[in-house]
Amino acid sequence: MQKTSETLRPSMGQVMFDFPRQDAGGGVCTAQAWARVPEALEGHRRDALLAEMKDLLAARNAVLVAHYYVDGAIQDLAWDTGGFVADSLEMARFGKNHKAQTLVVAGVRFMGETAKILSPEKTVLMPDLEATCSLDLGCPAEDFAAFCDAHPDRTVVVYANTSAAVKARADVMVTSSCALAVVHDLHEKGQKILFAPDRHLGRYIQEQTGADMLCWEGHCIVHDEFKASELAALKAKHPKAMVVVHPEATKGVIDLADVVGSTSAMIKAVVEGAAQEYIVATDQGILHRMRQLAPGKRLIEAPTAGTSATCKSCAHCPWMAMNGLVGLRDCLAYKGTDTAQNPFEVFVDQAIGAKAVNCIDRMLRFTAENPEKLARAQHGFVKNIGAA
Ligand code: 13P
Ligand code: SF4
Repeated sequence: MQKTSETLRPSMGQVMFDFPRQDAGGGVCTAQAWARVPEALEGHRRDALLAEMKDLLAARNAVLVAHYYVDGAIQDLAWDTGGFVADSLEMARFGKNHKAQTLVVAGVRFMGETAKILSPEKTVLMPDLEATCSLDLGCPAEDFAAFCDAHPDRTVVVYANTSAAVKARADVMVTSSCALAVVHDLHEKGQKILFAPDRHLGRYIQEQTGADMLCWEGHCIVHDEFKASELAALKAKHPKAMVVVHPEATKGVIDLADVVGSTSAMIKAVVEGAAQEYIVATDQGILHRMRQLAPGKRLIEAPTAGTSATCKSCAHCPWMAMNGLVGLRDCLAYKGTDTAQNPFEVFVDQAIGAKAVNCIDRMLRFTAENPEKLARAQHGFVKNIGAA
């Protein structure tokens, strides 16, 4: 495989990108994804489906776990039926700890896989199994294994947004809400890190912790599109606005942020912040929850248009958008008798799952046992990231 020579040496340590950027964010990928996005439903049809879903969830003893980026109606349905809406760390924890034997995951594929790996005995359903993620697509397991093989002296830290096979190769998994604390802890213990797949998150963690990190070159097609120069101009127009940014955004955008954090941390910043205006740089689906929890505050979407804009995503993840009410209803109503053929059920190869569970469990243990390290990561570094 061809290697790139892009090398970055920030003052606090070393980040190297020595792997080619996978072209997962191209137009073909997203065009296919957008083609599967269901039509928005309104009025009677929507209400009827929501009522049907409530009955089906109860009849099947199932619980709905949703991410903040999915359709607001699905988020509300989750809350109304005893389910949960959260960031990827808390989705994983909730699914593992909940007594329901059927989990319906409204999000993207890696979230369903994580739920299945943590609870292999449960049935995990998703409205569209094609709902993937550009980070996952951009980190094929075979190439990643070769990368790890080439650097056996490094602790392998992988972001949640990866396949089960990539997780099977990792020492510890992280999400954006604990990545900084986990890497800081490893760095304090003298370990060198191999990090994949998000290069912006990797660079951000490296800058904040000073850890010795070797990073894969993946990126999120949604967060890659926020524009620093246009954000600076917007900030100038709204000098009192607080800028909240997800760490998958580019360095230029992160450098303009007042708060950098996971989706939960971003919501917390808006709810608890003293400012009345917030510029939000992440998938627009999050605005639904922010509006519910901070109704009096003005939320402004960070710009994706402007110089070098491609509008591949326009601040909305096409794979998250694949989650629709019809798909949700269909996955619960599916009556096929051959489980292996169920087009809505998440399956993870047993051997892969048995390996992958270790890195996920390690993260869940670390976050449960080290609240002070998470808090320190949240408050003790230059910018604010960490547990919500
Ligand atoms: P969070 O873990 O912050 O919710 O992020 C998941 C994700 O896919 C962001 O694009
Ligand atoms: Fe993946 Fe980006 Fe979509 Fe999150 S927003 S699921 S990182 S493509």
